[in-house]
Amino acid sequence: METKMKKDTQIVSTGRKKEYTHGVVNPVVQRASTIVFDSVAQMKEAVKNRANKTLFYGRRGTTTHFALQDAITELENGAGCALYPSGAAAISNAIISFVKSGDHILMVDTAYEPTRDFCRVILNNMGVETTYYDPLIGEGIRDLIRPNTRLLFLESPGSISMEVQDVPLLSRIAHEHNMVVMLDNTYGNGYHFKPLDFGVDISIQAATKYIVGHSDVMMGVAVANEEHWPQLRENSYLMGQCTSADDAYLALRGLRTLSVRLQQHEKSALKIANWLSTHPLIDHVRHPALETCPGHEYFKRDFSGSNGLFSFVMKAGNQAAINALLDGLDHFKMGYSWGGFESLITANMGLQGLRSATGWQHGPIIRIHVGLEDCDDLLADLEQGLQQYQAYLE
Ligand SMILES: Cc1ncc(COP(=O)(O)O)c(C=O)c1O
Repeated sequence: METKMKKDTQIVSTGRKKEYTHGVVNPVVQRASTIVFDSVAQMKEAVKNRANKTLFYGRRGTTTHFALQDAITELENGAGCALYPSGAAAISNAIISFVKSGDHILMVDTAYEPTRDFCRVILNNMGVETTYYDPLIGEGIRDLIRPNTRLLFLESPGSISMEVQDVPLLSRIAHEHNMVVMLDNTYGNGYHFKPLDFGVDISIQAATKYIVGHSDVMMGVAVANEEHWPQLRENSYLMGQCTSADDAYLALRGLRTLSVRLQQHEKSALKIANWLSTHPLIDHVRHPALETCPGHEYFKRDFSGSNGLFSFVMKAGNQAAINALLDGLDHFKMGYSWGGFESLITANMGLQGLRSATGWQHGPIIRIHVGLEDCDDLLADLEQGLQQYQAYLE
């Protein structure tokens, strides 16, 4: 009798068809621009099946890409997966694949900053209007929907301030109005959250983060359901989106250890988050698994776990204190990406320019990515950094 594989078995086994691996464990790295055909009949066959994992032309992918696409499609419970040279490319190309001049879209206020910039510059130039909405808007989203609203974009938890959204509710309302629903699932990474199971049409990830997992490849993925896959695939292809076979290989290698890496990130991050929660300088911690994170109830309901990324809000602060904290740390390096094995930190005095539908009525917000270093070293690092922070407060 066939039983459904458990998640950890799935990420080890998926995408390992014999035609991709030729009998070894990992897929062969098949680099190609030109595919050569020996007969007209063979070439015609390739043209006919070019969208269906048949070697046709490099931009449509080789068996290395097909292996990764199979794996991510399975991870996200979708019908197909498009690959892009970065997470930002995945977001912009997925959106452009479904809008035209005169359309209106609803974008979550907590979107990753370059997603907002893309709307402000590129969509605006195309004649597509964007309205930002509060990530916790719930039923209120109905009031923002216009006859020409074509697309609802979510990011959950949101960038920096980490609000978790009610994905099934928002998806259901959007579908009542024939909108396409997309979600930036970089945090949920397909292992801890599967947006298509909650009503989303297209789940997008910066695979750069947890899937690659080693801070050495830029890549984006977008997984669509049956209904939206042909349009996403063909429009992304028309826009020339593709990745190198070497990068596809590295992403697939990263995926194999996703579960064990996440377990360690989660364990250390929770220990640090709980410690920060009781620190006298800190107002509250925005870790989705803690009650102090807005939308925590949706996280508890929809996600199967957390990871190394979270934020905390200071009671008071100034730029000099923030600089002293950032400069004073040894293990937490300053950096914008996350999801690798290393610990990282960024800080904002407020969220000026990053929010328009909501404000920021709190103190400075600090985001950390807890890496795979020993947690005690990380705690000691933060403790001495916060002492330096305190020295700059009146
Ligand atoms: C939530 C989120 N989405 C998308 C991206 C963009 O990914 P990339 O850097 O691969 O373009 C990032 C990068 O930091 C991110 O944090």
